[in-house]
Amino acid sequence: MELSSIEERIRSRRKYSVKWTEHPQEILPAWIADMDFGIPPLVKEGIAEAIELSEIGYAPYKLTLDYLEAFSAWQLEQHHVSMDSSDMIPLTDVIQGFYLAIDTLCAKDAGVLFLTPSYPPFFTSVNATKRRLVTSELVLSDRRYQIDFDDFANKAKQAGNGGAILLCNPHNPTGRVFDREELSLIAQIALSNKLWIISDEIHADLCYEGSVHTPIMAIAPEVASRCVTLSSASKSFNLAGLHTAVLHAGSPEILARLNSIPAGLRGSPGSLGLLAGKIAFGASAAWLKETVLKLDSNRKLLFASLEPYKNQVKSVIPEATYLAWLDFSQSQLKPTAQHYLLEKGHIALNPGETFFEGGTDFARLNFATEAELIPEMIKRITSCLPA
Ligand SMILES: Cc1ncc(COP(=O)(O)O)c(C=O)c1O
Repeated sequence: MELSSIEERIRSRRKYSVKWTEHPQEILPAWIADMDFGIPPLVKEGIAEAIELSEIGYAPYKLTLDYLEAFSAWQLEQHHVSMDSSDMIPLTDVIQGFYLAIDTLCAKDAGVLFLTPSYPPFFTSVNATKRRLVTSELVLSDRRYQIDFDDFANKAKQAGNGGAILLCNPHNPTGRVFDREELSLIAQIALSNKLWIISDEIHADLCYEGSVHTPIMAIAPEVASRCVTLSSASKSFNLAGLHTAVLHAGSPEILARLNSIPAGLRGSPGSLGLLAGKIAFGASAAWLKETVLKLDSNRKLLFASLEPYKNQVKSVIPEATYLAWLDFSQSQLKPTAQHYLLEKGHIALNPGETFFEGGTDFARLNFATEAELIPEMIKRITSCLPA
C-alpha cells in the first residue's frame, strides 16, 4: 500500500479525532495521546448493540458497579493490587481527578509537588486550584531519567504539611516506569512530610518487556491510606472520547472527603463510557497484548532510526507509554522545536515548553500509529536537522 493511501485511510477513519483534524492535510500528526489502532472488537460490538437498540438513556447503577468491578478485577489480575470497588468514585476524566483530589484534600496554603518535565495538566490543575506549584526536575543519567531524591525531599518540605505529591507513573512524557525502590522512597518522603499522594496511573498497562508497573498504593498499607489512584481505560483501550475514568480512595477518610463533594458538581460518566470500560477491562486483555506488541515494534523502529542522528536529537527509549520525549537542543530549531518541525518538517508534535518552563528545545512524539508511518515521521524530523 502506498504511504499516502495509508495516511488517507487513517485520515478518513479518524474524522472525529482532534489529532487528525487540527492541522492541514500536509501535516503528519504525531501529537495528542490517542492511538490510530481503533478499539477492541468486543467494545465496538457492545457499543454497536446499544446504538442498534437506540439505547443511550441514563445508565443503570448496576452498569456503574460493573465498570468499577471490572476495573478492580483488572487491577488485581494485571498489577496485583487490591482496589475495592466500594472505595472508588467514577469520574469523567483522570484530569478531573487531579482537580477534585487537590481541591478537596490539600491545605489551602500547601504546595503540590511533581516531577518535570510533566504532563501539562499537572501545571494547570495546581494553578487553577490555587495551590503552590513545587517541581523537581528529572535528571538524565546513564541514558535514563532519574529522580534527584535530595532535591525531591527538599521540595517535599517546601510543599509543607497537608500538601501533595502528584505522581505520574508510568511517567508522561519520559516513559519512565518507577520501580519499587523509587516508589518506596517517594512514599517515605510523602509520609514524613504529611503529604497526600495523588497517583496518575493511566499508562500502567502500556509497559514494555522488562518494566513492571507497581501501583504506589501497593507499597504498604500506610502509604495506601495517604493515596488517591487515578486511572481509566482511555489510554490502554483507546477510549478517550468516552470520558470515563475512575478514582480509588486509599482510606475511608479520603473517600468521605471526596464524597462530600455533591455528585451534581462532580458529574458522572455516561452509559456508553461505562459499558465500553466494563468490556475493555473485563474482556479485552488479548487486544491490549497485541496492541502493546505493535507499539513495541514501532518504539524499536523509531529509536533505531533516530540512533544515527543522536548528536542532533537526543532521546531515551521509553519503558512504557507510546510517547517519545525528544531533545533538539543541539539542533537549534527556532523559535521552538515544535514550531520548526511543524512549519518546515510538516509534522505535528507536542511543544516541549508545555511540559516544563524553558522547554522550547523539546517536543513529544506519539508513535501509536501504523508502522508504515514511522519512516515518514523520521524523514520529516531529520529533514529539519542540521547536517
Ligand atoms: C498522564 C496522563 N494523565 C491523564 C491523561 C488524560 O486522561 P483523561 O482523558 O481521562 O483526563 C493523559 C492523556 O494523555 C495522560 O497522559
